[in-house]
Amino acid sequence: MNNIKACIFDLDGVIVDTAIYHYKAWRRLANSLGFDFSEEQNEQLKGVSRMRSLEIVLEAGGITKTDAEKEQLAEQKNAWYVEMINQMTTDEILPGAREFVQSCRDAGIKTALGSASKNSMTILEKLKIVNLFDAIIDGNKVTKAKPDPEVFLKGAEALGIEPQYCVVFEDAIAGVEAAKAGGMKAIGIGDPKVLHEADLVVSGLNEMTLDKL
Ligand code: BG6
Ligand code: MG
Repeated sequence: MNNIKACIFDLDGVIVDTAIYHYKAWRRLANSLGFDFSEEQNEQLKGVSRMRSLEIVLEAGGITKTDAEKEQLAEQKNAWYVEMINQMTTDEILPGAREFVQSCRDAGIKTALGSASKNSMTILEKLKIVNLFDAIIDGNKVTKAKPDPEVFLKGAEALGIEPQYCVVFEDAIAGVEAAKAGGMKAIGIGDPKVLHEADLVVSGLNEMTLDKL
């Protein structure tokens, strides 16, 4: 992976483990509709947009809703999710995340956030790491969800670095696919069997060093 000039980081599952809060809120919503939603089913929601996640949850419960009802349900889930992330503290940054992003910056490598979440700023503020990123592209700035590369291409553009010099850190299959579709390198965070399209897979940013780039 020669010549890397920018690192673009997904947020949920890479910098912070918010999956548990997403799960609790989706499960609460499912329960309010009269069915349960397992942790295993929740795996399908990783990296997926809020509305698509809702559709997967409703499908799991065998429930059909109108678009207006879906808007309302997504809003309800988000309100519960926001309640939880508002309680987050700096302890919830995943091991090695802050250190690795900082080491990139110290080496002159640009850093960006590339997340599907519309709650990214709240989370970054709670973790006190807004300033770790030269550019922040989140769910409020994109129209196409991963595996579309829009979020990462906008990140590269904001940094002024061409895609071939960028590497994306992702825990979701859709995110690795998005990086590849954008002509970027991808480092998977998680299981190599699941993220087999990535150029390299590590278990967490605590396993990353600059010489692996
Ligand atoms: C992604 C998460 O980062 O953001 C998904 O992996 C989530 O689980 C998506 O659905 C959208 O997040 P939000 O905060 O805008 O509902
Ligand atoms: Mg993720």
